[in-house]
Amino acid sequence: MLKYSLYAVLLITVIVLAGGGFHLTRLYFKNKKEMAPYANGGIKITKNLGKVLVVYYSRSGNTKDIAQRIRQKTNADIYEIKTRDAMPSGPALYLGVKKQLKSGVYPKIIADFPDFSSYDLIFVGSPVWWYTLSTPVLSFLKQADFKGKKVVPFLTQGSNAGHSIADFKTNAKNAIILKEREFNNISQKYNNAVDNKISVWLNELDIN
Ligand SMILES: Cc1cc2nc3c(=O)[nH]c(=O)nc-3n(C[C@H](O)[C@H](O)[C@H](O)COP(=O)(O)O)c2cc1C
Repeated sequence: MLKYSLYAVLLITVIVLAGGGFHLTRLYFKNKKEMAPYANGGIKITKNLGKVLVVYYSRSGNTKDIAQRIRQKTNADIYEIKTRDAMPSGPALYLGVKKQLKSGVYPKIIADFPDFSSYDLIFVGSPVWWYTLSTPVLSFLKQADFKGKKVVPFLTQGSNAGHSIADFKTNAKNAIILKEREFNNISQKYNNAVDNKISVWLNELDIN
């Protein structure tokens, strides 16, 4: 009996590992294909986007990295959304966020937002959490009013943004929302390609 239980555990482990390996391999090739057009040269910004603000929340640095690159390319001001209390880590973070999303009670944030009215364009960046926006960004959107400003969402994610952008559109009050970009977590070797991807996106923004 014990022998069969051990075989069952072994079989399940092999299936889980094979499934994970398959997913990662597929993702590797998907990212490679997606980044290929951005691989060469240094694409420059050809558009004047006016006075730009970049708002972002980042827990482990990925969204901050994209936010800083946008800032550098557009000479923007930058504003980091900060929670009043530290977010948990490890499994507690995943479980805690799930609970917040279910209850609609999001973390309290420090609400010293910049004056949006003095900007032409506002970027808002969030990690994807459970197929939606991170709860500190949902908290921010609950409190912010963009009063007719042009707003551009951007996301960083493992591979699946789920309904994040739809949720952004529902929650961003009085915003004219321009075309978003999503950034998968990828290897450092794509550093230049990520930079080019941002430049292409910025050049394509319909700011008129
Ligand atoms: C609680 C939690 C939930 C997540 N859910 C998703 C998800 O649904 N889809 C996805 O592609 N990535 C998901 N991720 C991965 C993050 O979106 C990704 O690592 C992101 O780049 C982190 O951004 P940051 O470094 O700015 O915090 C999740 C991460 C955490 C911590």
